[in-house]
Amino acid sequence: MTLLTWNHACTVGVRAMDDQHGILMDTMNELRLALVQGSGREQISLQLNRLIEFAVMHFASEETLLERFGFPGAAAHRVEHQRVLDWLRASAHRAERREDTQMRPLLGFLRDWLVEHIAGLDREYGAWLNERGVF
Ligand SMILES: [Fe+2]
Ligand SMILES: [Fe+2]
Repeated sequence: MTLLTWNHACTVGVRAMDDQHGILMDTMNELRLALVQGSGREQISLQLNRLIEFAVMHFASEETLLERFGFPGAAAHRVEHQRVLDWLRASAHRAERREDTQMRPLLGFLRDWLVEHIAGLDREYGAWLNERGVF
């Protein structure tokens, strides 16, 4: 499990969103560190909940931006956010109840999802907003 690092494919070109994506990646790396260091389940749950909290904030902020500017893919984008949040919350719930000890595959999936989402859907709105003077 490697560290998430910033690269060009993860730049959407809208400053506030790029900053939030950076924080999201940092938060994910902290969770990774907790796993690698063999931290206890409580600590892992705490980090996972922090990640969820920040993801909720970021998704809401992104959705508000897209809706404000009338981005055509806003509704589909919101659905995609909701889908991963539902999955994340269910995973956190399982982790708290100690039902699922497979945190590494969870983190791996999440990391892939985040990178693909930013490089795909998020970059689509980035280019669209840039064309309308939003950076
Ligand atoms: Fe997004
Ligand atoms: Fe995003």
